[in-house]
Amino acid sequence: MGHALIFDSGVGGLSVVTEIRKRLPALRMTYVADDMFRPYGEKTEAQLKTRLPRLLWELTETIRPDIIVMACNTASTTALSEIRAAVDIPVIGVVPAIKPAAKISKTKTIAVLGTPGTVKRQYVDSLIQDFASDCDVVLKGSVNLVDLAEKKLSGEAVDLNAVKTEIAPMFAGRRGASIDAVVLACTHFPLLKDELKASVTQSVQWIDSGAAIAKRVEEVMAGIKTLRPVQLGPESALLIGPDTSPARIKTFHDFGFTRVVGLLA
Ligand code: DGL
Repeated sequence: MGHALIFDSGVGGLSVVTEIRKRLPALRMTYVADDMFRPYGEKTEAQLKTRLPRLLWELTETIRPDIIVMACNTASTTALSEIRAAVDIPVIGVVPAIKPAAKISKTKTIAVLGTPGTVKRQYVDSLIQDFASDCDVVLKGSVNLVDLAEKKLSGEAVDLNAVKTEIAPMFAGRRGASIDAVVLACTHFPLLKDELKASVTQSVQWIDSGAAIAKRVEEVMAGIKTLRPVQLGPESALLIGPDTSPARIKTFHDFGFTRVVGLLA
């Protein structure tokens, strides 16, 4: 069976949970949302490199999972090696889906829609050089979309105009009009896929990394010889911060985490 710790700054990792559950229905998951420190996309590299290795070490010691899934592009593109060095179990990160987007694009113009932090990272530059050197790549960072996804999953209606306003600059001009594939390089954004689709008139493929992470989780789990003992009972979501409204708790229930615990640090 096995046990994975799924980590994000908020509800974004739930888009990854959906894909993992499809592929590995028996895998036990514990979800941790670092609400207090969100948005990660506005934090410096140094802030994330200081906070995350220590936090993930503490969580690993407490929860005792077999693997960690960093279901957050910002954390993965910033601090993955530091987190890996801090814990003694496999850590799977999210790789923005630049390679599949470049492959699928006919116009050879793609966009990477992530947090402001992710689109600035050297890691993303390297992915573009390695896998999309034949493409014109438009980079767009947004924290407002992170906030809109959080609100949506807390039961609030999403203002479609706000989504449109946010992504309109990406599709502006001749360059924008050529975009035919958009990399959803933030795990919050697949949660807004319907709204994103409804906000553009040109034909665009929206590509995220959820299914690829689920596949990787399956591969890594298959390679673990001795699984750690797991406590049976309801699967838990631990929310670091005070955001435990009934609507938000219901969202975690809907994704299978029937025990939701608010950790007020
Ligand atoms: N869900 C996160 C990501 O994939 C980050 C959201 C944030 O806290 O800025 O990048």
